[in-house]
Amino acid sequence: MSTHWYQAFDPFLSAADADAMVRLCERYGSYGMYSEEPTFAGIGQGLPARYDAVRNFIKTGGRFGRSEDLQKLAARTNYFRETYAYGREIKAPGVEPFLNHEGMIAAARTLHGRPVIEPAIVFANLLVPGQELAVHTDVPEFRGISRKTHPQWLLVAMHHSGLFDDWRMPIATGVSWFHDAHGGEFAFYPDGAEGAPVAHPVRCNTAILLDTDSVFHGVDRLAETAAPVDQLRPGMRLTFEGDGEWRMREGDQSVARYRWQDLRFSISWKAYCFRDEAERRAWTEHADDLSVERVVARLVDDMRARGRFDERPSDLVLVEMIIDEYIHYPPPAA
Ligand SMILES: [Fe+2]
Repeated sequence: MSTHWYQAFDPFLSAADADAMVRLCERYGSYGMYSEEPTFAGIGQGLPARYDAVRNFIKTGGRFGRSEDLQKLAARTNYFRETYAYGREIKAPGVEPFLNHEGMIAAARTLHGRPVIEPAIVFANLLVPGQELAVHTDVPEFRGISRKTHPQWLLVAMHHSGLFDDWRMPIATGVSWFHDAHGGEFAFYPDGAEGAPVAHPVRCNTAILLDTDSVFHGVDRLAETAAPVDQLRPGMRLTFEGDGEWRMREGDQSVARYRWQDLRFSISWKAYCFRDEAERRAWTEHADDLSVERVVARLVDDMRARGRFDERPSDLVLVEMIIDEYIHYPPPAA
């Protein structure tokens, strides 16, 4: 038994529905880079949204402790993402059966022991050859503190600190695949950061559901092909050209071509897991919200009680200390 519960699905959909997800991906057709996340005013001003994960990836060289220059590391992790559904808004028609997948909903109930499941988002990730996803936990949600208005590294530290559990909204995440990939295993740590990782292979029409806000996970490197990964730059787009072919574009210019089978395509599903209707109401009506000032003050008090300092350090020093104090990444493989 793992410390963290998860459920694997094999098969996940009917063969026809699985194929329909690939066709939907092609129809959607154009995918932008995920690297352009906002930064925020206040504590940690100007730092990347996922400063915690970036800092760890650069410091350790990822799950296998590889050392490469910064630009190449950045290109490896600048993958492509588009949103297919957000709340009730359907951005990719045809995604509805996936959004309301009964198996995912049942597994989400088991995951947190909470009966009221509200699917919140469906998004697609595409990785090209040579790309990988740095080990991380996802950005959690708290009443009053959102990834849209506050630094994501702070939300991650809040969850790992365990100090804000009363305000946390437990989320279930399902990840699904609709083709076989060469490499690009979903690597996760079901027994915690100190436990052994599991490299879950990417196989057609399978899925896994887990608490990715608590369980460290990443994507191992996708097999390299002739198209070098370091030509990727922020702002490029990946477009479907028909007949099993994809193209990397910078504006009108074609940068590289890929075949379907060289990419890694996944669809993620996230759902809020409410204890009851009253909790769902508190969430939507913003009763009992946290403020960021209250969060930082609580973390400072906790670190002072642990003897880390007497005087509150400057903001930039404090950011480093908060990340080191609360977010304990898995060590790279020896
Ligand atoms: Fe993730």
